[in-house]
Amino acid sequence: MKVRVLDDPLIRHTLTKIRDKNTKADRLREYVENITLMCMPYVLKDFPVRRVRVETPLEEGEFEAIEEERIVFVCLLRAGLAMLRGALKSVPMAHSGFLAIRRDEETLRPFLYYKRLPSLRGKWVLVLDPMLATGGTLSLALEELKREEPERLISLHIVASPEGIERVLRDHGELELYTVSIDRGLNERGYIVPGVGDMGDRLFTEGL
Ligand code: URA
Repeated sequence: MKVRVLDDPLIRHTLTKIRDKNTKADRLREYVENITLMCMPYVLKDFPVRRVRVETPLEEGEFEAIEEERIVFVCLLRAGLAMLRGALKSVPMAHSGFLAIRRDEETLRPFLYYKRLPSLRGKWVLVLDPMLATGGTLSLALEELKREEPERLISLHIVASPEGIERVLRDHGELELYTVSIDRGLNERGYIVPGVGDMGDRLFTEGL
């Protein structure tokens, strides 16, 4: 597995805004969307480009283009939704898929309760999940996605824990993992510290 921390001043500045507990839901959604957009050049850096014929208003020529239709963004509900908007801004013709996973209250094991995916065969699949905590959710998501035989599996996170990375590394050695930060670790309630708190709640249910 390839792990890459996206060490860029503007990206880290935006993460600091995301960490700030005084950042309200509306601004938080914008920061998460923007940080995802800012990460995309790094994630797509080695994606093959082909030459396409395009007419500019002045003449016709051959220019470089990414094969947008080969990219599938898979959003882990619900916090991944805010990242999807940013990812689609960079590659608007990419396809999107959705997975929802939660923890069974009795067994404490994650289980999949919603899945809506386009064909993944031969595609480059980019999983969007802002918080990589224990790694249980991502590991199950990747297991599900691998059944569809994508050509490449990539994940993008805003904050990851060392425990989560280790778990996913163990389960899915072929993953290419990008994260803005690897934080100190998990607390006793499974939150990443210093982290950002509960990302889904902060994005979507603030004030409830
Ligand atoms: N999910 C979150 O939203 N935050 C964490 O710290 C861990 C998991």
